[in-house]
Formats: sequence, C-alpha cells, structure tokens
Amino acid sequence: MSTLNYQERIPNNVDLAGNRQLQRALEHWQPRFLNWWKELGPERYQDADVYLRTAISVDENGWANYGYVKMPDYRWGIFLADQERDRRIGFGDLYGQPVWQQVPAEFRSVLRRLIVTQGDTEPASVEQQRLLGLTCPSLYDLRNLFQVNVEEGRHLWAMVYLLHAHFGRDGREEAEELLARHSGDADKPRILGTFNEPISDWLSFFMFTYFTDRDGKFQLKSLAESAFDPLARSCRFMLTEEAYHMHVGENGIGRIVKRTLDVMKEIGSEDPEAVRRAGAIDLATIQRYVNFWFSSSLDLFGSEQSSNAASAFANGIKGRPDEASFEDHLALDQVCEIEVPDGAGAMRREAVPMRNAMNEVTRRAFVADCEAGFIRWNRLIQKSGYQARLFLPSPRFRRAIGAWNGQPVAPDGSIVAREAWEARKGGWLPTEADGAFIRSLMRQVIEPGKVAGWISPPARKVNHLDADYEFVKFH
Ligand SMILES: [Fe+2]
Ligand SMILES: [Fe+2]
Repeated sequence: MSTLNYQERIPNNVDLAGNRQLQRALEHWQPRFLNWWKELGPERYQDADVYLRTAISVDENGWANYGYVKMPDYRWGIFLADQERDRRIGFGDLYGQPVWQQVPAEFRSVLRRLIVTQGDTEPASVEQQRLLGLTCPSLYDLRNLFQVNVEEGRHLWAMVYLLHAHFGRDGREEAEELLARHSGDADKPRILGTFNEPISDWLSFFMFTYFTDRDGKFQLKSLAESAFDPLARSCRFMLTEEAYHMHVGENGIGRIVKRTLDVMKEIGSEDPEAVRRAGAIDLATIQRYVNFWFSSSLDLFGSEQSSNAASAFANGIKGRPDEASFEDHLALDQVCEIEVPDGAGAMRREAVPMRNAMNEVTRRAFVADCEAGFIRWNRLIQKSGYQARLFLPSPRFRRAIGAWNGQPVAPDGSIVAREAWEARKGGWLPTEADGAFIRSLMRQVIEPGKVAGWISPPARKVNHLDADYEFVKFH
C-alpha cells in the first residue's frame, strides 16, 4: 500500500516531495485554486465548520477521515489507486502490451484533451451548485452538498496533477484554463453543455447527482481502463468518491417521492395542483425533471457512431466500462445495432462496427445503471397504493447530439409530428411555471433535525451520526 505524507502542503501518495519541480508547479497552482474556490465555490459558508469526509489514503478499509473543517482548509490531495504489478493493456490493438507510465508522443494531444474535458466538469459542477446552500432543506443536506463540492474540487486536483506531471508547459497552461472557464459564462463557458446549465434548486441538484454524476462514473470507468496508467489509477480512486455523489441523488429523489406520497395520502388526492397547494412536488413534475436531466446527460456520451471513439479504443486510450467483463477485447469483428431515424418519420436499425459504437456501448451501460433508483422509487409508490410510475424516457427523446439530434421523439420513444412535439413539450419537460413553483419551495432550513416540507427527513446516517446532528456550525 502506498503511504501518505499528510504533513505536506498538498497531501499525496505520488511522492511529490521527490519531484521538486512538480511540487513547486503545483504549489504555485494551489493559491489560484483557492482563489477560485473562494470566489466561485459555495456562497456564504466559507468559514462555517462542516462535518466532512477527507480522503487520506487509498486503503479500501479506511481511506477517509471525518471531522469538522472549514471548506477553504479542506486538504485537497492527490491520490492514485495502488499500482498493479505488471498491468497490461486490456483492449484494442495493443492488447497485452505493458501499460504506459509516460504519455506516448503520438497520443499526447488526444490524452490531454480527454483529461482536460474530464477535469473541466469537476469545477463546473461546483460553480453550478454554488448558491444551493442558501436554500438547503436541512443541515444534513447542506453538509452533503458541501461534501460533493469539495470532492469535485479534489477531482479537479486529480486531473491537474496529471496535466502538470505529464504534459509539461501545455499541461500547466491547461491547468490555468480550467480555472478560467466558468459554468454558464458567455465568453468562456465550460466545455460540455450540461455543465453550463444552472442548478438553482434542490430538485435539479438531486437530478444532477443522480444522472450527471453517473455519467461521470461511466466516463471514469472507461478511463480507468486506459493504457496510460496514471490516468487509470487516478480515475479508479475518484470512483470511490463518486459513488457517494450518486447516492446523494438517489436518496434525495427518494425522499422527495416519499414526501409527495405522504402528502397525497394526507389530502386524499393525486391531483398535481392539490399536491402543490399542500407544499409537495407532484409526481408529474418530478417526471418532467427526470426527462430533462436524463436526456441532457445522455448527450455527454457523444454520437452513437464515432471514429474518435474507435481510435481511442484501438489505441488503448479509453476502454469500455468494466472491460474485463467482455469476452472479446479487440472488438474487431463485432457490430452494434443502433436505431436511427429513416428520414420518413420512422426508425430503422443500422449495424455499426463495434469500435465505432463505443460511445453507444458506454451510454447503454449508463442507461441500465440508471434503472436501480426507479425500481426503488416505484416500489414506494406502489406500496402507497398508487398507479403512477416514474420512468426513464426513451434515449431518443430530446437529444441534441447524434442520430436523434433535434428529432421530434416523445418520451415513450415514438416519433411524432413536429407541431405535436412543440404542443406537448410542456407536459414532458419542466416549464417556466414548474421552475417558479420549485423555486417557491426553496426556503432554507438550518435548524438541526428540521427538514423542509417538500422532502421527507433523511433515513440514512452520516458516518454513524444521526440525521439531526449539527453537521454545519455557522459563525
Ligand atoms: Fe467528479
Ligand atoms: Fe461527482
């Protein structure tokens, strides 16, 4: 197991002290990161004491510390999962060759772009969520928000380390740019569309952590297969933290659904307006938010057919999630069946060479992984005796990338007339009025043990502490 020098300015298990030049470069970047954090990180609570988990090692049996910390004092460290002895490339044309500890010159620009794109999403989500603390439904949720935020900050560190350690001057410049682009900025936006959508309410936050952090999980899983070993090891450790972010989403949505069901029982009505008047979020609105965030997250995987994805696979740069679970790691003779619009209002199937369909393979794994929460939430609804169900819309619905880009597809997957789509979209996607209603519910609750009326109290503990613990202490 690798050891950590926790006394260093930048906690790490990459022997930073043994590389003075790299250490100095990162120590130079650190105050810029802190400036960014103070300016664009969580609003108002920079000097609150927050009960947070901090990564201190990569030991599976105890990789984190829990305790009160002011967020700007959080120990953002650099941790790579332990190096596997004699690790070999697990897929593509270079299958079976030793993995790379350094970046091969011919793959330098493509690896840099992948790392920058991944790195860009991490501070973007912190920026998107920066005002949420002002409307938290409980102290428990406030703490969870900040936990997600500081860990996204650490994920940025993970990518910046790779840029500094392996990409020389270009890498250092890219690391600066990661702090210069901002979510939603008209001149310098974040790289990917979803990461420029503002997240101004907690329903959206839970949707984001459920769907968009899960996209992150699958990107990290693909990169965890990379032949570039430091990238693979970085991503493997990031996945341990990422699991918690999705758990925040799944539990948050579950608690909202539970509260809605309780209110429906209380008032003896399923009528959305009546549910809203009673201060809860009707199931139809939750479904519209699902439709929005799921479709938005699907676009992050890219086009169904992609020659870039094919060459990244061929060259060992980016694999499939859980590559070891596939039998054929060359994927040369296989095809992937995809659905495309036939141009005449219907759909046809097309066989795509498997390597060109790697984005689609990853997207399908993501879609399957999204189902688990719906099973749980629908069980709650069923137990309460209601017929309604929440569901994932068709992956063809409201797409902005790939074969279905701009196609008028209903959430059930059927192709409809364009006018019909426009006329019905208010029933499928959050409307202005939905947004205004959700915002009207967003009132801060910070008394320990108290919870806002639109969400049920948490049932889960934080590191053995009950939900009424004073997770954040204000000054
Ligand atoms: Fe992340
Ligand atoms: Fe995350």
